[in-house]
Amino acid sequence: MSMTQDELKLAVARAARDYVAAQLPAGGILGVGTGSTANFFIDELASIKDRIGGTVASSEATKKRLAGHGIRVLDLNDVGEMAIYVDGADEIDAGFAMIKGGGGALTREKIVAAVARTFVCICDASKLVATLGKFPLPLEVIPMARAHVAREVEKLGGTPALREGFVTDNGNLIIDVHGLAIADPQGLETQFNQIVGIVTNGLFARRGADVLLLGTPAGVKTSKR
Ligand code: A5P
Repeated sequence: MSMTQDELKLAVARAARDYVAAQLPAGGILGVGTGSTANFFIDELASIKDRIGGTVASSEATKKRLAGHGIRVLDLNDVGEMAIYVDGADEIDAGFAMIKGGGGALTREKIVAAVARTFVCICDASKLVATLGKFPLPLEVIPMARAHVAREVEKLGGTPALREGFVTDNGNLIIDVHGLAIADPQGLETQFNQIVGIVTNGLFARRGADVLLLGTPAGVKTSKR
């Protein structure tokens, strides 16, 4: 009997809850990601909310869902240390570099990830790839820089597509870059970091994941970098 993608996401969400229950110091702060896998995780988190000092949300949607379960949500600026950040990914490679931002929350996700000591990536097996880039790479872009960024993306060999009708939590646009086969994720992340007008690119390679909880039909596989 084959498991659906949602069943894999639920299994991995439960494994992440168990990871947090075991690894988060008493009263510790937990960063919480965005997306459908993160949503399963948030729902599971409700059962251990008394062990968590507080959470930091990576999007307005996540903030709302956490609050709906009565889980305490803090402003990142009021947090000194964050032990763990749990989030999904659109793609992850063997070196734990990721493409994120399919849900458009990449900037806040990258900020929260930068603060966290341990990044735990939760995803189903379909997200594990040999080479990043089949999933279009999201860029969060300041509106007035849209055309400039599109031209710069073409110079790097990508095909830019504006995400129609979408505005980020920060009031910006998303350009999805198609047609990249990313041989050097850290190098390309750095190159996109140099283009003025891009707030954040969806490559999480310089600060990739530390732990991967991968949902497979044979069970959840845990690996560390
Ligand atoms: C949100 O902006 C993304 O980075 C998500 O982490 C990513 O899209 C994974 O989402 P799913 O769990 O819905 O695939």
